Amino acid sequence: MNSTYSDALKFWDQAFEMGDAEKEQYLKEIDPENGWKELASSEKLRDIVTAHLSGCNKVLDYGCGEGWAGIALSKSGCKDVTAVDVVENAIKLANFLGSAYGAGSGFKAECVSTDWISKEKEASYDGILCSNVVDVLPADVAEDIIKNIARIATKDAKIIISMNYHSNAASDPERNIEVKNGNEIYVNGVLRMVSRTDEEWTDILGEHFKVEKIEYFAWPGEAREARRIFILRKA
Ligand SMILES: C[S@@+](CC[C@H](N)C(=O)[O-])C[C@H]1O[C@@H](n2cnc3c(N)ncnc32)[C@H](O)[C@@H]1O
Repeated sequence: MNSTYSDALKFWDQAFEMGDAEKEQYLKEIDPENGWKELASSEKLRDIVTAHLSGCNKVLDYGCGEGWAGIALSKSGCKDVTAVDVVENAIKLANFLGSAYGAGSGFKAECVSTDWISKEKEASYDGILCSNVVDVLPADVAEDIIKNIARIATKDAKIIISMNYHSNAASDPERNIEVKNGNEIYVNGVLRMVSRTDEEWTDILGEHFKVEKIEYFAWPGEAREARRIFILRKA
């Protein structure tokens, strides 16, 4: 693993760290019944994910982070949801949140190695979500993930790959932003995005999938819906 990727993984591991005192306080403040709905960064993204995937028999939330999507799918009726991530703190948090919101025994969160996906049996999931992952990783890692998502999806699987907006950011030393190789955006020396247009992503995804639709959403406070949800079927 090169240092760009290992630094990115260290960043994500730290991002999902939650200490015991923080967890204790969190449990006092949440609505255990409906609070899971607030875990998603966007209501529109959550609703599209649950509308497309909650009826599937066996769903994978790949690169799940804190597990908002897997938990939402479980709470929306999906009986078999596997949420995996390669950093430990993400899975500790996903298990904590899954239990806090009563995700149930059909929700499994597991810390896996980076080659886990290449060892999963082909055609084993009829629903796959990969949210905010492929455009935050080095291009070769992302392309390997995309190829394997297609491989482990059943013939009629419903697949959603969502990602950030396309950014034309330029290097800005005052804000510790550096753009390398035209589209790799580093913040404080950590790769945070490999920015591509809709057309560029459609070409990359089109090698393995039919792009049925691209939906757009925003995070709270953003003026424009520019984040993307690629709704896919196997080609
Ligand atoms: C921006 S976070 C997205 C988390 C979550 N899916 C969401 O929508 O909020 C990117 C996640 O991808 C994970 N990740 C990085 N490399 C990965 C890999 N090879 N396989 C699976 N997940 C990976 C990181 O650990 C991190 O949790």
